[in-house]
Formats: sequence, structure tokens, C-alpha cells
Amino acid sequence: MQAEDMKYIQKLKLLGRHFPQESKKDESIPIRVAVTGAAGQIGFFLCFMIAQGRMFGPYQKVILHLLELPAAEGPLKGLVMELKDGAFPLVADIVPSTDVNVAFNGIDAAVLVGARPRGPGMERKDLLTANAAIFKAQGEALDKYAKKSVKVLVVGNPANTNALIASHYAPSLPKKNFTALTRLDQNRAVSQLADKTSSRVEDIKNVVIWGNHSLTQYPSVQYGKIGDQSIIKAVADDKYLKGEFIPKVAKRGGEIISVMKKSSAASAANAACDHMHDWFIGTKQGEYCSMGIITDGSQYGIAAGICYSFPTECRNGDWTVVKGLELNAYDKELITKSEKELLDERKMALDM
Ligand code: NAD
Ligand code: LMR
Repeated sequence: MQAEDMKYIQKLKLLGRHFPQESKKDESIPIRVAVTGAAGQIGFFLCFMIAQGRMFGPYQKVILHLLELPAAEGPLKGLVMELKDGAFPLVADIVPSTDVNVAFNGIDAAVLVGARPRGPGMERKDLLTANAAIFKAQGEALDKYAKKSVKVLVVGNPANTNALIASHYAPSLPKKNFTALTRLDQNRAVSQLADKTSSRVEDIKNVVIWGNHSLTQYPSVQYGKIGDQSIIKAVADDKYLKGEFIPKVAKRGGEIISVMKKSSAASAANAACDHMHDWFIGTKQGEYCSMGIITDGSQYGIAAGICYSFPTECRNGDWTVVKGLELNAYDKELITKSEKELLDERKMALDM
């Protein structure tokens, strides 16, 4: 790598982006990444972020597979025109389509965004009836047309249970390939703590989200640090951590909807990039990231067969749930509450 490039990478690291010193991959071989709902709010931001190297790194070429509904063919065409007008060196090609089988053909990665968003007064699980069929059809298409190694991130809500549905309908793909987005909650938690303690976000580590991307999620600071100090000591306000902080993070999506009259978009796209970036490139040594993964019954006593968010570490393109974290009675109560909700959502999905 050239000295100039190394300088650039050092600067990106300051921005919290992590890159291995020497990438063994040939970054000129493009990653084929599908974005569903590409011309929607999140999709639009996401495509530009991927084109700028925010998801797979500043040297990795990509081929964008963009899926939309036939009704959104016009906006999809416009998006492709704008992407072309960006003249992004990392974009080797664009495959726009309104046919899921074409969009998923030979893909290495999929970010499943296309789904109905909730409006004011709704909970995310209220979207299950409207959105479950989308993830069934997309699971089937992934099974048939994507690479067997495809890494799938579900963003469309209710994200955890939709990831479970997609994986269920893709029996030839490993369960490990399906994940749901809880990184937005993690980022929200970090930002709240930075404000509370007047710290820099980049100094806050290992805040993690357990459970569902919903009101029952448990944003835990138990293992987190601000610089060298534990978060619990740095905040020194148990009442805030248990009383105000958790609902603030869990209700942030609803708060945004009530203010903007539409759901979060740029921060969601940003979090999707963080999630895929860590999965493909790896987490920093000793740092955890939150991911909804499909449980097998071996993780912290959580039931098998739901999509539950845990602290994870990523190496060589694989995630593993961080082992051996201690859980006190308070932690156990909260992680079980979210487990119960996910079991209920699974039952609702099965009943459908
Ligand atoms: P949006 O309505 O702006 O865009 C959705 C797009 O998906 C539309 O362009 C629509 O045409 C398309 N679409 C719908 N069904 C499709 C299908 N079967 N195939 C392909 N495209 C399809 O919505 P948005 O604001 O971009 O949000 C998308 C989803 O993401 C919602 O369910 C929202 O609740 C969810 N979301 C999740 C998180 C998270 O952290 N997990 C954060 C924000 C939003
Ligand atoms: C969010 O957390 O912003 C999204 O899940 C959108 C929503 O419905 O809250």
C-alpha cells in the first residue's frame, strides 16, 4: 500500500472506521450487493453511502443490484441516473430491477430494506402482517439465486422477525448468513452517553443491544467503557442509566417519527453500513458490535430459533457471539423480556 493511502486510512480510523493494515482480498473484484427498496428513503441514502465506500471500505469495488416495486420504476430509474452522475470509481456496475430473481442473482451481500414503515401510534410488530410476505418471497429468491455465502442484513421492520422469516424460506443457506439491524440502537445509545458525559463518541466502547429492535430491547452499558473508565463509573448515576437512558434509546425511532412524520432514514442507512462493514471487514480487537442473529439455544440461555441481538465480534467474514459476559438479575430480567416478545412475534408469523 502507498504511503498516501496509509495516511488516508489513518484519517478514516479517526472517523471510527476500521481497516485491516493489509487487506488480503483483491478489492478490484467487485462485491455484488443488493439493496431492496433502493428508491425509498433509506435505500437512497444507502446506495450513495455504499458507492462512497462506507460499507466495504474505500478501495472495494461494488456492483449495485437495486430492487424496487414496479410502481417505483420511475424513482429507481432516477436513482440510477443520479448514481451514474456521481461518477463513483468504486461502482463497477449497476443492475436495477423490479424482479427479485434478477436482483438477487449471484449476490454476495443483501440489505433488505424494502418494506412498509410504521406511522405515528404504531409499534414495529404491527407491520408484521403487511411485511411478512415480502420476506418470505425474498427468502425464497435468495435461496435460489444468491451465492450460498451471501450475507444478509434485514432492515425492514419488524427487522428481527423478518430476518427469521427470510432465513426460514431459504433452507439451503446457513442460518448464520441472516442478521437483523440493531446497530442503529447501539449508535443511539453511544450518542446519548456522549452527550450525558460530555465525551467523544469515539471514546465510548462496548455498549451493546440485547434482544429485539423494539421497546423491549436492552441497551446495556454493563461492559462498556469511556476511555479507560467503566461507563457505570463515568456516568455515576444509576437512576439515569436504568430510568431515563434505556427508554430514551428504545423509543428514539418513535420520537423521530413524531417529529418528522416519517421514520429515520440517514441514520438507519449509516447503521446498516456499520453493521456490514464490521461483518465483512471485522470489529476492532476487543470491541463488540450488536447484531440480531438466529439463535441456536447455546447463547446466554436464549431460546433457539428466534432472531435476537447479542454483543458479537467479527473476524474473517464471520460473527461470533461474545462468550462469558456476566449477567446479573437485572440483566436477566430484561433479556428475558425481549426473548419473550420475539417468541410471540415468531408465533404470530407462524400463525400467518
Ligand atoms: P420507504 O417507504 O421510504 O421505502 C421503502 C421502499 O421499499 C419503497 O420505495 C417501496 O417501493 C419499496 N418496497 C416495498 N416493498 C418492496 C418489495 N417487496 N421489494 C422491493 N422494494 C419494495 O421506507 P423507509 O423509510 O426506507 O423504511 C423501510 C423499512 O425500514 C421500514 O420497514 C422501516 O420501518 C424500516 N426501518 C428499520 C430500521 C432499523 O433500525 N431496523 C430503521 C429505520 C427504518
Ligand atoms: C427506527 O428505529 O428508527 C426504525 O425502526 C423506524 C421505526 O419505526 O422506529
